[in-house]
Amino acid sequence: MICELTEAGDLTPDWRDSFEAAARHRFIPDTVWVEDADRLVPVDRADDEAAWLELCYANKAVITQVDDGVPSLPGRVGREITSSASRPDVVAGMLAALGAEPGMNVLEIGTGTGWNAALLAERLGSDSVTSVEVDPAVADRARRVLWDAGYKLTVAAGDGASGYPESGPFDRVIATVAADRVPHAWAEQTRPGGRVLVPWTTDFHNGALVAFTVASDATMRGRIMGNVAFMRLRAQRGKRASLDRDVKEVAGARRSFTQTHPYPVLGEYDASLAIGLRVPRCKLIVTHHDGGAYTVWLVDPWSGSWAALDVEPGAEKFPVRQSGERDLWQEVEDAYRWWDGLDRPTSDRWGLTVTPEAQHVWLDTEEHRIDRPGS
Ligand SMILES: C[S@@+](CC[C@H](N)C(=O)[O-])C[C@H]1O[C@@H](n2cnc3c(N)ncnc32)[C@H](O)[C@@H]1O
Repeated sequence: MICELTEAGDLTPDWRDSFEAAARHRFIPDTVWVEDADRLVPVDRADDEAAWLELCYANKAVITQVDDGVPSLPGRVGREITSSASRPDVVAGMLAALGAEPGMNVLEIGTGTGWNAALLAERLGSDSVTSVEVDPAVADRARRVLWDAGYKLTVAAGDGASGYPESGPFDRVIATVAADRVPHAWAEQTRPGGRVLVPWTTDFHNGALVAFTVASDATMRGRIMGNVAFMRLRAQRGKRASLDRDVKEVAGARRSFTQTHPYPVLGEYDASLAIGLRVPRCKLIVTHHDGGAYTVWLVDPWSGSWAALDVEPGAEKFPVRQSGERDLWQEVEDAYRWWDGLDRPTSDRWGLTVTPEAQHVWLDTEEHRIDRPGS
């Protein structure tokens, strides 16, 4: 794993010793879960050590808790991922982006398995790292594993959105959990000039890493610098969309056609990031049919509005069905045209500012501010 990460340029030389010392499998629980269709199925180390180890050293996230610790289906099968060890290339890339050096004081939000905290403690020393985890059982386990491995850092059980002022001020804050509304407490507890690294998300789009710099008035500003997908802060989880539950009144749906193929709208990172700024409370689901056909569903689980776009291979126009108080496909298509009209800005041109009162998004400079509806 270390060789692969190094060759790919994800693991930088300054973090290599930490990766060698804090071996990932030492932090992964004996039971993990793997995805099987829409269910999460357990894999026990005691039953198949080789399979478990392979999961520990693949360049993939390892699912370490489902359904907040109580699998909701028989046979310890789960529905929702609620804790995981992040993908090794993402961990290495975020540590490089954090710019944490020995002598700095660092706060991690989302302890999970404790692996990332161990990597930080190995390089910076345990006294310089604090980690906060919202799930008390996950926090207790991580603390025990970290302390047994010799990393006697502070692992606090609590809501990381409030930071951890007892250990501050910090030079660096790293969130390993995503935020839609970025907590200002992280800026308040960081020294001016310090960096706060946050996976930022919208209901529509789940993957932008923002590197903020904190100013002397505790405002923080930063640009999008990468593509990462993390689970959300517990209090910001929002609602999950379900076709079974949310798609109702199919016969009465409003019908039309569009000539806009959904792929460049929904499948391209830069476009879908921008659409997420304009279209709140909209979740995307794709269902596949025989012969390469598929349906793109847009679902607002709050209002019950939904839209479906049926795509046949080679077709030049696509039937659209829309239902509920919102015309979701229309909103998404309009947002796509808006992004196109701005000359298709790439993700790195967007930035975020977080003040004590609010947060806003901008394009290139603060002067070009984007108001986000409903956020
Ligand atoms: C992707 S995992 C973190 C991975 C972890 N850093 C590691 O090395 O294994 C995200 C974690 O954030 C936790 N979390 C969710 N909401 C939180 C909150 N408000 N405060 C602190 N932790 C939170 C979850 O329980 C989960 O364990």
